[in-house]
Amino acid sequence: MKLVNSISEMQNIGLSAIVGGQKLAFVPTMGFFHDGHLSLMRWAKEHADEVVVSLYVNPAQFAPNEDLDSYPRDIERDMELARDIGVDHMFFPSTRDLYPAGFDTWVEVPGLSRTLCGRSRPQHFRGVSTIVCKLLNIVRPFMAVFGQKDRQQLLIIEKMVKELNIPVLIEGRPTCREADGLAMSSRNSYLSTEQRNLAPHIYQGLRIIKDEVLSGNTNPLKLEQNLKEYYLHNIPGSEIDYIKIVDANTLEQPDLAGKNSFMAVAVRLGRARLIDNIVLG
Ligand code: PAF
Repeated sequence: MKLVNSISEMQNIGLSAIVGGQKLAFVPTMGFFHDGHLSLMRWAKEHADEVVVSLYVNPAQFAPNEDLDSYPRDIERDMELARDIGVDHMFFPSTRDLYPAGFDTWVEVPGLSRTLCGRSRPQHFRGVSTIVCKLLNIVRPFMAVFGQKDRQQLLIIEKMVKELNIPVLIEGRPTCREADGLAMSSRNSYLSTEQRNLAPHIYQGLRIIKDEVLSGNTNPLKLEQNLKEYYLHNIPGSEIDYIKIVDANTLEQPDLAGKNSFMAVAVRLGRARLIDNIVLG
């Protein structure tokens, strides 16, 4: 596995792949790998000639009061795991190179960014769209792979790529879960033992609501209220950031929950802000 720090070297690798007719797949990450990240890398490896993984904790997507400084990091372990999977290039760009003094070009998808996580993290998706756009321009992969746990992020990236005519396929892959259903996340490491025992209720509640939809309750407000009550009862000490049923493409509230909608939640449990979602159809 080749370690790449410089943007120009990464650009040369991407360009050589295009010229040589090699299919290069890209997995952007912020590191501290869990099985979710590794499953994206494995999938990329199976569907491309070469795989690039970037590891960069992007300051532009964190608000000043958020966990940029304490975001979990273990670069040595990450490199070992990526090497075992057969990742070909690991890209570690620096903030100095990505956001040099005077940097002032931002990519925004405001409509899709305003709701769900965008409400409590107003600049977050501007930071995500900008860094993903920059990384795609640097790596120039034929395909980039993202997890569906961040379904809003995935939709925003798909729209950005389409509307800016960036020549890349965006592949969204299913959320990886622990045996008890908790969605894998680097931020699960913030949970105390007690909080970790409560956290699976986030997904269990979503499953219960999905069953309600399948049995005929399609009233979005009623379903949101039911999940709120479930969380208040089963996850004491948590703080609900949002519980929303949204249209799977526009993220607007649908008249009826069902085929083309999903339910998304963000719940704060101690230091961790955990997100999850379930397709309702
Ligand atoms: O999903 C993430 O880990 C990040 O938002 C991403 C896509 C790597 C951009 O920093």
